[in-house]
Amino acid sequence: MSAITLFPQPQQLEREPGAFTINARTRVFAADAALGEWLADYLRPATGFSLPVHALDDDILADATNAILLVPSAEHQAAEAYALDVAPARVMLRAGGSCGFLHAMQTLRQLLPPQILVDEPQADVAWSIPCLRIKDAPAFGWRGLLLDVARHMFPVDFIKSFIDAMAFYKLNRLHLHLTDDQGWRLEIKKYPRLTEIGSQRAETPIPADPKQGDGKPYGGFYTQDEARDIVAYAAKRGITVMPEIELPGHSLAALTAYPRLGCLGEGYQVRRTWGIDSNIYCAGNDEVFTFLGDVLEETLAIFPSEYIHIGGDEAPKERWRNCPKCQARIKAEGLADEDELQSWFIRRIESWLNQRGRRLVGWDEILEGGLAPNATVMSWRGSDGGIAAANAGHDVIMTPNTYCYLDYYQHEDWTREPAAISSTLTLPQVWQFAVIPEAISPDKKHHILGGQGNIWTEYIPKAEHLEYMAFPRAIAISDILWNHPGERSCDDLTARLKAHLPRLDALGINYRRLDE
Ligand code: ACM
Ligand code: ZN
Repeated sequence: MSAITLFPQPQQLEREPGAFTINARTRVFAADAALGEWLADYLRPATGFSLPVHALDDDILADATNAILLVPSAEHQAAEAYALDVAPARVMLRAGGSCGFLHAMQTLRQLLPPQILVDEPQADVAWSIPCLRIKDAPAFGWRGLLLDVARHMFPVDFIKSFIDAMAFYKLNRLHLHLTDDQGWRLEIKKYPRLTEIGSQRAETPIPADPKQGDGKPYGGFYTQDEARDIVAYAAKRGITVMPEIELPGHSLAALTAYPRLGCLGEGYQVRRTWGIDSNIYCAGNDEVFTFLGDVLEETLAIFPSEYIHIGGDEAPKERWRNCPKCQARIKAEGLADEDELQSWFIRRIESWLNQRGRRLVGWDEILEGGLAPNATVMSWRGSDGGIAAANAGHDVIMTPNTYCYLDYYQHEDWTREPAAISSTLTLPQVWQFAVIPEAISPDKKHHILGGQGNIWTEYIPKAEHLEYMAFPRAIAISDILWNHPGERSCDDLTARLKAHLPRLDALGINYRRLDE
Protein backbone atom coordinates (compact mmCIF):
# COMPACT_ATOMS: atom_id res chain seq x y z
CA MET A 1 0.00 0.00 0.00
CA SER A 2 1.37 3.40 -0.90
CA ALA A 3 1.78 5.95 1.87
CA ILE A 4 -1.04 8.31 2.66
CA THR A 5 -0.20 11.95 3.20
CA LEU A 6 -2.66 14.31 4.81
CA PHE A 7 -2.27 17.87 6.13
CA PRO A 8 -3.12 18.16 8.88
CA GLN A 9 -2.36 14.58 9.87
CA PRO A 10 -5.50 12.96 11.36
CA GLN A 11 -5.47 11.88 14.99
CA GLN A 12 -6.23 8.24 14.10
CA LEU A 13 -5.85 6.54 10.75
CA GLU A 14 -6.01 2.81 10.01
CA ARG A 15 -5.34 1.56 6.51
CA GLU A 16 -7.36 -1.28 5.04
CA PRO A 17 -6.91 -3.13 1.76
CA GLY A 18 -8.63 -1.95 -1.38
CA ALA A 19 -10.08 1.28 -2.67
CA PHE A 20 -13.35 3.02 -3.42
CA THR A 21 -13.59 4.50 -6.89
CA ILE A 22 -15.92 7.36 -7.75
CA ASN A 23 -17.59 6.98 -11.16
CA ALA A 24 -20.51 8.55 -13.01
CA ARG A 25 -22.97 6.26 -11.17
CA THR A 26 -21.79 7.09 -7.65
CA ARG A 27 -24.54 8.68 -5.54
CA VAL A 28 -24.34 10.98 -2.53
CA PHE A 29 -26.78 10.50 0.36
CA ALA A 30 -27.07 13.16 3.03
CA ALA A 31 -29.41 14.05 5.86
CA ASP A 32 -28.48 17.67 5.20
CA ALA A 33 -28.98 18.20 1.45
CA ALA A 34 -26.88 21.39 1.45
CA LEU A 35 -23.87 19.48 2.76
CA GLY A 36 -24.41 16.72 0.21
CA GLU A 37 -24.50 19.31 -2.58
CA TRP A 38 -21.36 20.89 -1.16
CA LEU A 39 -19.52 17.59 -1.55
CA ALA A 40 -20.95 16.98 -5.03
CA ASP A 41 -19.81 20.50 -6.01
CA TYR A 42 -16.27 19.74 -4.84
CA LEU A 43 -16.17 16.59 -6.98
CA ARG A 44 -17.81 17.96 -10.14
CA PRO A 45 -15.24 20.22 -11.87
CA ALA A 46 -12.39 17.72 -12.19
CA THR A 47 -14.40 14.50 -12.60
CA GLY A 48 -17.10 16.00 -14.78
CA PHE A 49 -19.59 13.87 -12.81
CA SER A 50 -22.72 15.55 -11.48
CA LEU A 51 -23.29 13.16 -8.63
CA PRO A 52 -26.95 13.13 -7.57
CA VAL A 53 -27.67 13.97 -3.93
CA HIS A 54 -30.47 12.02 -2.22
CA ALA A 55 -31.96 11.94 1.25
CA LEU A 56 -30.52 9.46 3.69
CA ASP A 57 -32.73 6.81 5.31
CA ASP A 58 -32.21 3.57 7.25
CA ASP A 59 -32.42 1.31 4.19
CA ILE A 60 -29.85 3.38 2.36
CA LEU A 61 -27.65 3.38 5.43
CA ALA A 62 -27.87 -0.43 5.58
CA ASP A 63 -27.52 -1.29 1.89
CA ALA A 64 -26.39 1.46 -0.45
CA THR A 65 -23.37 0.69 -2.59
CA ASN A 66 -21.31 2.87 -4.89
CA ALA A 67 -22.38 5.60 -2.50
CA ILE A 68 -20.95 8.38 -0.38
CA LEU A 69 -22.99 8.82 2.80
CA LEU A 70 -23.02 11.85 5.09
CA VAL A 71 -24.34 10.52 8.36
CA PRO A 72 -25.11 12.71 11.38
CA SER A 73 -23.58 11.08 14.41
CA ALA A 74 -24.00 11.73 18.10
CA GLU A 75 -20.71 9.88 18.59
CA HIS A 76 -18.79 12.73 16.93
CA GLN A 77 -20.34 15.67 18.73
CA ALA A 78 -17.04 17.15 19.90
CA ALA A 79 -16.48 20.46 18.17
CA GLU A 80 -15.25 19.87 14.63
CA ALA A 81 -14.85 16.09 15.12
CA TYR A 82 -15.54 13.68 12.30
CA ALA A 83 -14.99 10.11 11.16
CA LEU A 84 -14.31 8.93 7.64
CA ASP A 85 -14.65 5.28 6.66
CA VAL A 86 -13.69 4.27 3.15
CA ALA A 87 -14.61 0.74 2.05
CA PRO A 88 -14.69 -0.73 -1.47
CA ALA A 89 -18.48 -0.37 -1.69
CA ARG A 90 -19.06 2.93 0.06
CA VAL A 91 -17.61 5.95 1.77
CA MET A 92 -19.10 7.16 5.01
CA LEU A 93 -18.56 10.61 6.54
CA ARG A 94 -19.83 11.00 10.08
CA ALA A 95 -19.94 14.13 12.19
CA GLY A 96 -22.01 15.84 14.84
CA GLY A 97 -22.11 19.19 13.05
CA SER A 98 -21.40 20.90 9.77
CA CYS A 99 -17.78 21.83 10.65
CA GLY A 100 -17.00 18.15 11.16
CA PHE A 101 -18.54 17.27 7.79
CA LEU A 102 -16.57 20.05 6.10
CA HIS A 103 -13.34 18.71 7.60
CA ALA A 104 -14.23 15.18 6.49
CA MET A 105 -14.74 16.49 2.95
CA GLN A 106 -11.32 18.17 2.96
CA THR A 107 -9.75 14.90 4.08
CA LEU A 108 -11.58 13.13 1.26
CA ARG A 109 -10.31 15.70 -1.28
CA GLN A 110 -6.75 15.14 -0.07
CA LEU A 111 -7.13 11.35 -0.35
CA LEU A 112 -8.17 11.55 -4.01
CA PRO A 113 -5.55 12.03 -6.74
CA PRO A 114 -4.30 15.67 -6.81
CA GLN A 115 -6.08 16.27 -10.12
CA ILE A 116 -9.38 16.35 -8.17
CA LEU A 117 -8.35 19.88 -7.12
CA VAL A 118 -8.13 21.21 -10.66
CA ASP A 119 -10.99 23.42 -11.67
CA GLU A 120 -11.68 21.76 -15.05
CA PRO A 121 -12.35 18.24 -16.36
CA GLN A 122 -9.39 15.88 -16.09
CA ALA A 123 -9.12 13.02 -18.56
CA ASP A 124 -8.10 9.45 -17.68
CA VAL A 125 -7.86 9.71 -13.94
CA ALA A 126 -9.06 6.83 -11.75
CA TRP A 127 -10.87 8.65 -8.92
CA SER A 128 -9.82 6.15 -6.28
CA ILE A 129 -9.70 6.64 -2.54
CA PRO A 130 -7.70 4.15 -0.46
CA CYS A 131 -9.74 2.15 2.04
CA LEU A 132 -9.21 3.32 5.60
CA ARG A 133 -10.80 4.42 8.83
CA ILE A 134 -10.13 7.87 10.21
CA LYS A 135 -11.27 9.30 13.53
CA ASP A 136 -10.30 12.88 13.88
CA ALA A 137 -10.70 16.07 15.90
CA PRO A 138 -8.49 19.12 16.43
CA ALA A 139 -6.18 19.60 19.40
CA PHE A 140 -6.95 23.34 19.44
CA GLY A 141 -10.13 25.25 18.69
CA TRP A 142 -8.22 28.33 17.44
CA ARG A 143 -6.27 27.60 14.26
CA GLY A 144 -5.76 30.80 12.41
CA LEU A 145 -3.97 33.05 10.00
CA LEU A 146 -3.67 36.82 10.19
CA LEU A 147 -3.89 38.75 6.96
CA ASP A 148 -2.72 42.37 7.09
CA VAL A 149 -4.86 44.21 4.55
CA ALA A 150 -3.84 47.62 5.94
CA ARG A 151 -0.28 47.79 4.61
CA HIS A 152 -1.36 46.27 1.31
CA MET A 153 -4.87 45.45 0.19
CA PHE A 154 -5.92 42.27 -1.52
CA PRO A 155 -8.94 41.85 -3.77
CA VAL A 156 -12.07 40.23 -2.33
CA ASP A 157 -11.76 37.37 -4.82
CA PHE A 158 -8.24 36.65 -3.64
CA ILE A 159 -9.34 36.71 0.02
CA LYS A 160 -11.98 34.15 -0.92
CA SER A 161 -9.41 31.90 -2.56
CA PHE A 162 -7.22 32.31 0.52
CA ILE A 163 -10.20 31.25 2.65
CA ASP A 164 -10.60 28.17 0.43
CA ALA A 165 -6.94 27.33 1.03
CA MET A 166 -7.42 27.77 4.79
CA ALA A 167 -10.43 25.43 4.71
CA PHE A 168 -8.33 22.86 2.82
CA TYR A 169 -6.00 22.78 5.86
CA LYS A 170 -8.85 22.88 8.40
CA LEU A 171 -7.80 26.34 9.62
CA ASN A 172 -10.82 28.02 11.20
CA ARG A 173 -9.95 31.64 12.07
CA LEU A 174 -9.12 34.44 9.65
CA HIS A 175 -7.84 37.49 11.54
CA LEU A 176 -8.20 40.56 9.30
CA HIS A 177 -5.92 43.43 10.29
CA LEU A 178 -8.12 46.21 8.88
CA THR A 179 -6.62 49.45 10.19
CA ASP A 180 -3.13 50.79 10.69
CA ASP A 181 -0.95 53.88 10.31
CA GLN A 182 -0.62 53.23 6.58
CA GLY A 183 -4.29 52.79 5.77
CA TRP A 184 -7.85 52.37 7.03
CA ARG A 185 -9.57 49.64 5.02
CA LEU A 186 -13.13 49.24 6.32
CA GLU A 187 -16.03 51.48 5.33
CA ILE A 188 -17.58 53.11 8.40
CA LYS A 189 -20.75 54.93 7.35
CA LYS A 190 -20.80 57.36 10.26
CA TYR A 191 -17.22 58.51 9.57
CA PRO A 192 -16.79 58.70 5.77
CA ARG A 193 -13.42 60.44 6.00
CA LEU A 194 -11.91 57.23 7.41
CA THR A 195 -12.00 55.79 3.91
CA GLU A 196 -12.06 59.03 1.86
CA ILE A 197 -8.86 60.24 3.55
CA GLY A 198 -7.61 57.45 5.80
CA SER A 199 -7.49 54.75 3.13
CA GLN A 200 -5.11 56.76 0.93
CA ARG A 201 -1.35 57.20 1.34
CA ALA A 202 0.92 59.34 -0.77
CA GLU A 203 3.39 56.57 -1.51
CA THR A 204 4.77 53.22 -0.39
CA PRO A 205 8.32 52.27 0.61
CA ILE A 206 10.28 50.41 -2.05
CA PRO A 207 10.87 46.81 -0.86
CA ALA A 208 14.54 46.76 -1.89
CA ASP A 209 15.20 50.11 -0.17
CA PRO A 210 12.41 50.91 2.27
CA LYS A 211 13.88 54.30 3.16
CA GLN A 212 12.74 55.43 -0.28
CA GLY A 213 9.17 55.93 -1.40
CA ASP A 214 7.89 54.83 -4.79
CA GLY A 215 6.10 58.14 -5.41
CA LYS A 216 2.83 56.35 -6.24
CA PRO A 217 -0.38 57.08 -4.32
CA TYR A 218 -1.84 53.88 -2.86
CA GLY A 219 -5.27 53.28 -1.42
CA GLY A 220 -8.49 51.37 -1.20
CA PHE A 221 -10.95 49.88 1.26
CA TYR A 222 -13.61 47.23 1.64
CA THR A 223 -17.21 48.37 1.58
CA GLN A 224 -19.41 46.96 4.32
CA ASP A 225 -21.13 44.80 1.69
CA GLU A 226 -17.77 43.40 0.59
CA ALA A 227 -16.77 42.71 4.19
CA ARG A 228 -20.11 40.94 4.79
CA ASP A 229 -19.56 38.90 1.64
CA ILE A 230 -16.14 37.77 2.95
CA VAL A 231 -17.63 36.91 6.36
CA ALA A 232 -20.43 34.85 4.78
CA TYR A 233 -18.06 33.10 2.38
CA ALA A 234 -15.79 32.14 5.26
CA ALA A 235 -18.67 31.03 7.51
CA LYS A 236 -19.90 28.60 4.84
CA ARG A 237 -16.44 27.02 4.98
CA GLY A 238 -16.34 26.78 8.76
CA ILE A 239 -14.12 29.84 9.20
CA THR A 240 -14.80 32.77 11.53
CA VAL A 241 -13.42 36.14 10.46
CA MET A 242 -12.13 38.19 13.39
CA PRO A 243 -11.70 41.92 12.63
CA GLU A 244 -8.90 43.96 14.15
CA ILE A 245 -9.46 47.67 14.73
CA GLU A 246 -6.17 48.99 16.13
CA LEU A 247 -6.12 51.22 19.21
CA PRO A 248 -4.71 53.25 20.86
CA GLY A 249 -1.67 53.05 18.54
CA HIS A 250 -1.28 52.21 14.85
CA SER A 251 -4.05 54.76 14.35
CA LEU A 252 -2.45 57.46 12.22
CA ALA A 253 -4.77 56.85 9.25
CA ALA A 254 -7.76 57.53 11.51
CA LEU A 255 -6.08 60.62 13.01
CA THR A 256 -5.39 61.95 9.52
CA ALA A 257 -9.11 61.64 8.78
CA TYR A 258 -10.21 63.10 12.15
CA PRO A 259 -7.26 65.09 13.61
CA ARG A 260 -9.17 66.13 16.72
CA LEU A 261 -8.90 62.52 17.97
CA GLY A 262 -5.12 62.86 18.48
CA CYS A 263 -3.26 64.65 21.27
CA LEU A 264 -1.82 67.24 18.87
CA GLY A 265 -5.10 67.84 17.07
CA GLU A 266 -3.47 68.55 13.71
CA GLY A 267 -0.60 67.87 11.34
CA TYR A 268 -1.24 64.19 10.60
CA GLN A 269 -0.58 62.34 7.35
CA VAL A 270 -1.33 58.70 6.53
CA ARG A 271 2.05 57.13 7.07
CA ARG A 272 4.18 56.42 4.01
CA THR A 273 6.97 54.54 5.74
CA TRP A 274 6.79 51.34 7.78
CA GLY A 275 7.54 51.19 11.50
CA ILE A 276 5.84 52.63 14.56
CA ASP A 277 4.24 56.07 14.72
CA SER A 278 4.30 58.24 17.83
CA ASN A 279 0.81 59.62 17.14
CA ILE A 280 -1.94 57.66 18.87
CA TYR A 281 -5.52 58.31 20.00
CA CYS A 282 -5.77 60.85 22.84
CA ALA A 283 -6.80 59.04 26.01
CA GLY A 284 -7.98 62.26 27.64
CA ASN A 285 -10.57 63.14 25.00
CA ASP A 286 -14.01 61.59 25.57
CA GLU A 287 -14.84 62.07 21.90
CA VAL A 288 -12.27 59.36 21.14
CA PHE A 289 -14.42 56.83 23.00
CA THR A 290 -17.58 58.00 21.26
CA PHE A 291 -15.77 57.59 17.95
CA LEU A 292 -14.38 54.15 18.81
CA GLY A 293 -17.78 53.02 20.10
CA ASP A 294 -19.41 54.11 16.84
CA VAL A 295 -16.71 52.43 14.75
CA LEU A 296 -16.96 49.22 16.77
CA GLU A 297 -20.78 49.31 16.59
CA GLU A 298 -20.62 49.18 12.80
CA THR A 299 -17.82 46.62 12.94
CA LEU A 300 -19.80 44.27 15.20
CA ALA A 301 -22.77 44.53 12.85
CA ILE A 302 -20.59 43.14 10.03
CA PHE A 303 -18.52 40.58 11.96
CA PRO A 304 -20.46 38.15 14.19
CA SER A 305 -17.17 36.85 15.65
CA GLU A 306 -17.35 36.56 19.43
CA TYR A 307 -13.70 37.66 19.56
CA ILE A 308 -12.89 41.20 18.46
CA HIS A 309 -9.23 42.25 18.20
CA ILE A 310 -8.43 45.80 19.29
CA GLY A 311 -4.67 45.79 18.67
CA GLY A 312 -2.99 47.35 21.69
CA ASP A 313 0.56 46.83 20.41
CA GLU A 314 3.34 49.30 19.84
CA ALA A 315 1.72 52.44 21.28
CA PRO A 316 4.52 54.90 22.17
CA LYS A 317 3.57 56.99 25.17
CA GLU A 318 5.40 60.26 24.41
CA ARG A 319 2.29 62.09 23.14
CA TRP A 320 0.37 61.11 26.27
CA ARG A 321 3.26 62.30 28.46
CA ASN A 322 3.05 65.75 26.89
CA CYS A 323 -0.73 66.07 26.53
CA PRO A 324 -2.63 68.09 29.20
CA LYS A 325 -5.83 66.11 28.55
CA CYS A 326 -4.06 62.74 28.93
CA GLN A 327 -2.31 63.93 32.08
CA ALA A 328 -5.64 65.18 33.48
CA ARG A 329 -7.09 61.72 32.81
CA ILE A 330 -4.22 60.04 34.67
CA LYS A 331 -4.90 62.29 37.64
CA ALA A 332 -8.67 61.98 37.59
CA GLU A 333 -8.52 58.18 37.38
CA GLY A 334 -5.74 57.89 39.97
CA LEU A 335 -3.41 56.12 37.55
CA ALA A 336 0.32 55.73 38.20
CA ASP A 337 1.63 56.39 34.69
CA GLU A 338 1.05 56.16 30.93
CA ASP A 339 1.18 52.33 31.00
CA GLU A 340 -1.73 52.36 33.41
CA LEU A 341 -3.45 54.88 31.16
CA GLN A 342 -3.20 52.40 28.28
CA SER A 343 -4.57 49.71 30.56
CA TRP A 344 -7.46 52.04 31.54
CA PHE A 345 -8.11 52.69 27.83
CA ILE A 346 -8.25 48.98 27.02
CA ARG A 347 -10.48 48.20 30.02
CA ARG A 348 -12.93 50.87 28.88
CA ILE A 349 -13.09 49.28 25.42
CA GLU A 350 -13.34 45.81 26.94
CA SER A 351 -16.27 46.81 29.10
CA TRP A 352 -17.99 48.27 26.01
CA LEU A 353 -17.43 45.01 24.08
CA ASN A 354 -18.44 42.76 26.97
CA GLN A 355 -21.73 44.66 27.36
CA ARG A 356 -22.45 43.66 23.77
CA GLY A 357 -21.59 40.02 24.32
CA ARG A 358 -18.17 40.13 22.64
CA ARG A 359 -14.71 39.30 23.94
CA LEU A 360 -11.66 41.50 23.61
CA VAL A 361 -8.43 40.17 22.12
CA GLY A 362 -5.26 42.26 22.22
CA TRP A 363 -1.54 41.93 21.49
CA ASP A 364 0.63 41.11 24.50
CA GLU A 365 1.41 44.78 25.25
CA ILE A 366 -2.02 44.91 26.90
CA LEU A 367 -0.35 43.13 29.84
CA GLU A 368 1.62 46.31 30.58
CA GLY A 369 -0.06 48.44 33.19
CA GLY A 370 -2.44 45.61 34.11
CA LEU A 371 -4.59 43.28 32.02
CA ALA A 372 -8.28 44.00 31.42
CA PRO A 373 -10.31 41.48 33.44
CA ASN A 374 -11.63 39.28 30.62
CA ALA A 375 -9.06 39.93 27.92
CA THR A 376 -7.62 37.23 25.67
CA VAL A 377 -3.96 37.84 24.91
CA MET A 378 -2.34 37.27 21.55
CA SER A 379 1.30 36.54 22.36
CA TRP A 380 3.54 37.84 19.58
CA ARG A 381 6.83 39.02 21.15
CA GLY A 382 7.85 35.43 21.69
CA SER A 383 5.83 33.34 24.13
CA ASP A 384 6.47 35.24 27.38
CA GLY A 385 3.32 37.37 27.21
CA GLY A 386 1.25 34.25 26.59
CA ILE A 387 2.91 32.44 29.48
CA ALA A 388 2.27 35.35 31.88
CA ALA A 389 -1.33 35.76 30.73
CA ALA A 390 -2.18 32.04 30.93
CA ASN A 391 -0.58 31.71 34.35
CA ALA A 392 -2.71 34.69 35.44
CA GLY A 393 -5.80 32.80 34.27
CA HIS A 394 -6.38 34.55 30.93
CA ASP A 395 -7.05 32.89 27.61
CA VAL A 396 -4.21 33.09 25.12
CA ILE A 397 -3.68 32.70 21.40
CA MET A 398 -0.08 31.89 20.57
CA THR A 399 1.45 33.73 17.62
CA PRO A 400 5.09 34.10 18.72
CA ASN A 401 7.16 35.88 16.08
CA THR A 402 9.85 33.26 16.72
CA TYR A 403 7.66 30.57 15.09
CA CYS A 404 4.61 32.16 13.51
CA TYR A 405 5.60 35.32 11.60
CA LEU A 406 5.15 34.36 8.00
CA ASP A 407 6.38 37.74 6.72
CA TYR A 408 9.94 36.81 7.75
CA TYR A 409 12.50 35.46 5.28
CA GLN A 410 12.19 31.73 4.58
CA HIS A 411 15.94 31.19 4.23
CA GLU A 412 19.01 32.44 6.11
CA ASP A 413 20.49 33.57 2.81
CA TRP A 414 18.32 36.60 2.14
CA THR A 415 19.82 37.14 -1.32
CA ARG A 416 17.91 34.05 -2.47
CA GLU A 417 14.55 35.44 -1.42
CA PRO A 418 12.28 38.35 -2.28
CA ALA A 419 12.86 41.34 0.05
CA ALA A 420 11.15 40.78 3.40
CA ILE A 421 11.04 42.31 6.86
CA SER A 422 14.41 41.88 8.58
CA SER A 423 14.14 38.51 10.32
CA THR A 424 14.27 34.85 9.32
CA LEU A 425 11.80 32.06 9.99
CA THR A 426 12.61 28.87 8.11
CA LEU A 427 10.22 25.97 7.72
CA PRO A 428 12.25 23.80 10.16
CA GLN A 429 11.99 26.64 12.71
CA VAL A 430 8.21 26.80 12.29
CA TRP A 431 8.14 23.06 12.88
CA GLN A 432 9.61 23.63 16.37
CA PHE A 433 6.58 25.72 17.43
CA ALA A 434 5.54 24.49 20.88
CA VAL A 435 2.03 25.87 21.22
CA ILE A 436 1.96 25.27 24.98
CA PRO A 437 5.32 26.31 26.45
CA GLU A 438 6.67 24.29 29.39
CA ALA A 439 6.50 27.38 31.62
CA ILE A 440 2.70 27.28 31.70
CA SER A 441 1.53 25.42 34.76
CA PRO A 442 -0.42 22.22 34.05
CA ASP A 443 -3.65 23.60 35.50
CA LYS A 444 -3.43 26.63 33.19
CA LYS A 445 -2.73 24.86 29.91
CA HIS A 446 -6.41 24.91 28.95
CA HIS A 447 -6.09 28.70 28.61
CA ILE A 448 -4.13 28.21 25.40
CA LEU A 449 -6.91 28.38 22.82
CA GLY A 450 -4.53 27.69 19.96
CA GLY A 451 -2.38 29.72 17.64
CA GLN A 452 -2.03 31.32 14.26
CA GLY A 453 0.44 32.38 11.61
CA ASN A 454 0.65 36.12 10.97
CA ILE A 455 1.15 37.51 7.48
CA TRP A 456 2.07 41.18 7.76
CA THR A 457 2.22 42.74 4.34
CA GLU A 458 4.66 45.66 4.39
CA TYR A 459 6.81 43.79 1.87
CA ILE A 460 4.00 41.83 0.25
CA PRO A 461 2.10 43.89 -2.31
CA LYS A 462 0.71 41.08 -4.47
CA ALA A 463 -1.42 37.99 -4.00
CA GLU A 464 1.06 35.58 -5.59
CA HIS A 465 3.80 36.82 -3.26
CA LEU A 466 1.48 36.46 -0.28
CA GLU A 467 0.89 32.81 -1.19
CA TYR A 468 4.63 32.32 -1.52
CA MET A 469 5.13 33.60 2.03
CA ALA A 470 2.20 31.62 3.42
CA PHE A 471 2.95 28.22 1.92
CA PRO A 472 4.22 25.83 2.97
CA ARG A 473 4.84 27.43 6.39
CA ALA A 474 1.11 27.84 7.11
CA ILE A 475 0.62 24.15 6.29
CA ALA A 476 3.12 23.24 9.02
CA ILE A 477 1.25 25.51 11.46
CA SER A 478 -2.08 23.89 10.57
CA ASP A 479 -0.55 20.48 11.24
CA ILE A 480 0.86 21.54 14.62
CA LEU A 481 -2.39 23.14 15.78
CA TRP A 482 -4.47 20.15 14.72
CA ASN A 483 -2.15 17.51 16.10
CA HIS A 484 -0.37 18.96 19.04
CA PRO A 485 1.90 17.67 20.43
CA GLY A 486 2.26 14.93 17.80
CA GLU A 487 5.50 13.43 16.67
CA ARG A 488 7.59 15.83 14.69
CA SER A 489 10.71 15.19 12.70
CA CYS A 490 11.92 17.49 9.96
CA ASP A 491 12.70 14.59 7.63
CA ASP A 492 9.18 13.38 8.02
CA LEU A 493 7.77 16.86 7.34
CA THR A 494 9.87 17.18 4.20
CA ALA A 495 8.80 13.78 2.93
CA ARG A 496 5.15 14.48 3.63
CA LEU A 497 5.31 17.89 1.97
CA LYS A 498 7.03 16.43 -1.09
CA ALA A 499 4.10 14.10 -1.52
CA HIS A 500 1.58 16.83 -0.76
CA LEU A 501 2.79 19.90 -2.67
CA PRO A 502 1.47 18.73 -6.09
CA ARG A 503 -1.93 19.46 -4.56
CA LEU A 504 -1.03 23.14 -4.26
CA ASP A 505 0.01 23.05 -7.92
CA ALA A 506 -3.37 21.55 -8.78
CA LEU A 507 -5.13 24.26 -6.78
CA GLY A 508 -3.09 26.93 -8.59
CA ILE A 509 -1.60 28.20 -5.31
CA ASN A 510 1.92 29.61 -5.33
CA TYR A 511 4.36 28.37 -2.70
CA ARG A 512 8.03 28.30 -1.82
CA ARG A 513 9.75 25.18 -3.10
CA LEU A 514 11.42 22.97 -0.50
CA ASP A 515 15.15 23.46 0.01
CA GLU A 516 17.15 20.75 -1.73
C1 ACM B 1 2.78 43.07 15.94
O1 ACM B 1 3.48 42.35 15.21
N1 ACM B 1 3.06 44.35 16.10
C2 ACM B 1 1.65 42.53 16.64
ZN1 ZN C 1 -3.92 63.22 24.74
